Amino acid sequence: MRVLVTAPFLAAGMSVLKESAHSITPAPYDRPMNREELLKHSAEVDALLVAGGEMVDGALLDARPGVRWIALNSAGYNNVDVPACTARKVGLTNTPGVLTNATAEIAFGLILMAARRLSEAERFVRAGKWTGVGTVHMGTDVVGQTLGLVGAGRIGARVARMAQGFDMKLLYHNRNRNSEMDALGAKWLPLEELMRQSDFVSIHVPLSPQTRHYIGARELSWMKPTAILVNTARGPIVDEAALVAALQERRILAAGLDVFENEPALHPGLTALENVVLLPHIGSATTRTRDAMARTAANNLLAMLRGECPPNPINAELWGAGR
Ligand code: DGY
Repeated sequence: MRVLVTAPFLAAGMSVLKESAHSITPAPYDRPMNREELLKHSAEVDALLVAGGEMVDGALLDARPGVRWIALNSAGYNNVDVPACTARKVGLTNTPGVLTNATAEIAFGLILMAARRLSEAERFVRAGKWTGVGTVHMGTDVVGQTLGLVGAGRIGARVARMAQGFDMKLLYHNRNRNSEMDALGAKWLPLEELMRQSDFVSIHVPLSPQTRHYIGARELSWMKPTAILVNTARGPIVDEAALVAALQERRILAAGLDVFENEPALHPGLTALENVVLLPHIGSATTRTRDAMARTAANNLLAMLRGECPPNPINAELWGAGR
């Protein structure tokens, strides 16, 4: 089979692919492909390893009917039209699980950075402005505060366990009650109550049509003026314009963001704000995690090419399995 890798892909995954008898075309560019490039390079291929978050929709699949299998090198799959794949019997996989710890670390890191104003303080030192111990950069305590988790999947639950070490009171909002969260003593609340009671709100829902702008001006208005919002999930879950306005007007204290609505572009006004920590979508960016993601994506693809149900199917129904 002929496989196209769409963007730079770590050696850990590439070597798994190359051990197979398939014909592997490595990424032609050192960046993700645009639609035109993807169409050009996928003309003769049977499978895609989508390594750069490229958009896959019905139009692409109709233009490239030879593509039967797609393995994503990510846990999130909001860049793919899943029903379009399923309708065309295109097998689709992702890499859940292996990035739970790394992403939870970044969520907790953002909680600490935003609360204790760590980026601001570091910029201050680097700018040579530090003249001695003073009362600048007074922050907010994390220990003993209330953390509200919006979404209680693997990553949300891992953040909850980290927060236990900080004696935080845990609240969560999720479509379904989560026994792991309940066992941690976390209290399920409706979204509005969670937003009103939390000192920190951390977002861990996947992006879908239902969660686009899930946190908008109204939801932000429910937050305490002393509260901090953290997003390591997907940018479009938060209405970025509404968030910038809330931060500018100090209607909430601060935010910590690893994801943005139109990555890598930032909403105007965001970089001018001191009360927001900005990271370049590095939730999964540890060597061990990214290697594990690459191996997982490669193994998923090879399993599909062998005709097997892959370890991480998104449209499991194609193999007659429930997800
Ligand atoms: C994921 O895998 O979904 C991470 O956010 C990296 O894109």
